[in-house]
Amino acid sequence: MNVIVVKIGGKLISQENEVSKVLDDIATLHKDNKIILVHGGGPQINNLLERLGKTPIMVKSPSGMTSRFTDNETLNVAEMVMGGKINKDLVALLQSRGVSAVGLSGIDGATVQAKKKDKLMTIDEKTGKKRILHGDCSGKIEKVDIKLLQLLLENGYVPVISALAISENNEPLNVDGDRSALNIGSAFKADKLILLTDVKGIILDNEVVKTVGREEIDNLMQKIEGGMRKKLFAAKEALNKGLKEIIIASGLIDNPVISALSGKIGTSIAWKYF
Ligand SMILES: Nc1ncnc2c1ncn2[C@@H]1O[C@H](COP(=O)(O)OP(=O)(O)O)[C@@H](O)[C@H]1O
Ligand SMILES: [Mg+2]
Repeated sequence: MNVIVVKIGGKLISQENEVSKVLDDIATLHKDNKIILVHGGGPQINNLLERLGKTPIMVKSPSGMTSRFTDNETLNVAEMVMGGKINKDLVALLQSRGVSAVGLSGIDGATVQAKKKDKLMTIDEKTGKKRILHGDCSGKIEKVDIKLLQLLLENGYVPVISALAISENNEPLNVDGDRSALNIGSAFKADKLILLTDVKGIILDNEVVKTVGREEIDNLMQKIEGGMRKKLFAAKEALNKGLKEIIIASGLIDNPVISALSGKIGTSIAWKYF
């Protein structure tokens, strides 16, 4: 089944009028393609945590990646925000464009299966010492079961799927949105996977890097920070799992999905460029 997987980041979702451009394109493409929309929600989770009087806990890993420590309370909020509000709003916005959309998370139908991390290795930024944090309710994705998604796609629905997963003990887990999208894409052997964000792609020296071959990834990763570094890391994993091409592009322009598919914009990551 030829499927297009589109992931929208939380940063894009927070700019309300902007996500509409992505949804307009999905409504157009839906006529001739099977589309899965995956979404994150990091900033929205932080926002609700803060309104509840809790400071989001961000930690640095020994390899220099910043990530969220998902304690139980944070997991609850992640389920409410990603599984609830964002997901249902996206479904309603697609319905208003004449698209039959179904909102679900990786928990539904045990679609995204992950191993609970529980322990998170961190580096104390002040002392530089390694520390292990226990009780992390985030997961490393191990398997995607595409049956439920296939059922929906075959019947003309657009699945809208949030970045939650289920553990082997049937507990909900928080997972990275980019990794969710990439694992879903790999499971479908999708030709193209599009990660839409709030910047034009990977930017080096003020220019968008147009193509990245697999061999170049490790070197490039040293020069990139934050969420983009995580995307690149996840993209490398996805290439290893058989995904052919990952496009990182801006969701803020007109026709973001159609432009990204045409190769006119963004950064394309594939095996073949060196
Ligand atoms: N070299 C770079 N090129 C592009 N973006 C970068 C780079 N280095 C860091 N970034 C950051 O990565 C961010 C995108 O990742 P992230 O914040 O996780 O967004 P999303 O919500 O879409 O996943 C950009 O907004 C930018 O601030
Ligand atoms: Mg991100």
